[in-house]
Amino acid sequence: MPLDEFEPIVRPAEPLAPHTWFQLGGPAEYYAEPRDVAQLARLVERCQQEDLPVRILGGGSNVLVRDEGVPGVVVRLPESGFGQIEVRGRRVVAGGGAKLGHVISTAVREGLAGLETLVGIPGTIGGALHGNAGSRGGDIGQWAERATVLTRTGEVAERGRDELVFAYRQSSLDELVILAAEFELEHDDPEQLTKRMQQQWIVKKSAQPLAHQSAGCIFKNPRGMSAGLLIDQAGLKGTRVGGAEVSDRHANFIVAEPGATTNDVLRLIELVRSRVADRLGMELELEIEIW
Ligand code: EPU
Repeated sequence: MPLDEFEPIVRPAEPLAPHTWFQLGGPAEYYAEPRDVAQLARLVERCQQEDLPVRILGGGSNVLVRDEGVPGVVVRLPESGFGQIEVRGRRVVAGGGAKLGHVISTAVREGLAGLETLVGIPGTIGGALHGNAGSRGGDIGQWAERATVLTRTGEVAERGRDELVFAYRQSSLDELVILAAEFELEHDDPEQLTKRMQQQWIVKKSAQPLAHQSAGCIFKNPRGMSAGLLIDQAGLKGTRVGGAEVSDRHANFIVAEPGATTNDVLRLIELVRSRVADRLGMELELEIEIW
């Protein structure tokens, strides 16, 4: 096999479903969990020589893997080597593999405000920055001061605030890997912050089907509108294809019942798109990534 030298950290034909929130889809041709940056850089370089495409899986919460699986190498950054979190004054420095939820709770405990509006968003710091994850209260990009990335050719580079551009679910950080990021937050009372965070969590939990197999919102909100509201207005709540269903709680969520396949979800996505276009004249754009 072309990646023999990486044998302890690379596995062929690894099922990806258990690594994603949807818990659907086929295997990765190769799956790798490098121990540290040096090993990751060597792996990326090797994949380039072998012409193997590389994809980075964050927390697996915003991705839908096709039933036939993914060619090339899927890399996941383990928290042990890529998930360090440090607080320096008003700054929080976090590894790309750190869970966003852990970074939020560290900041809140230290009395640092800003990121708590993102409570309940799953995934890693790398994934959150890559797609500029956010809620109505703000997005992660507005707090980012600096990022360390690994380019597609395997070089480590720094990106300062002036090079970071964020928009709704979009970021200029399109390098292969986000290794680490630095956030500048605001001092606040930890008790007040905790209360605010808990309130937001309760609101979110009541509005979204968080206990089900899903990948968060499926579609981006069209400017000034809510995709969930549009899908609801088109009368699509509860619509099913196979084991995939438009959530009754929030119409921009598709939930997967036991036995569902990715193909069911993809067919349901197309059905929702075409009904919303027919009935309301709006084109919905995907928010999740399809691999
Ligand atoms: N609404 C309905 N029916 C539905 C869903 C929503 O009538 O089935 C209505 C709500 O009652 C509300 C409006 O639509 O009046 C907006 O709904 P909500 O507050 O739930 O916000 P959203 O625009 O649907 C966005 C983000 C969510 C984020 C929430 C809360 C997108 C695509 N969605 O949803 O993000 O959690 O705000 O901040 O930007 C995600 O990105 O994966 C995600 C879930």
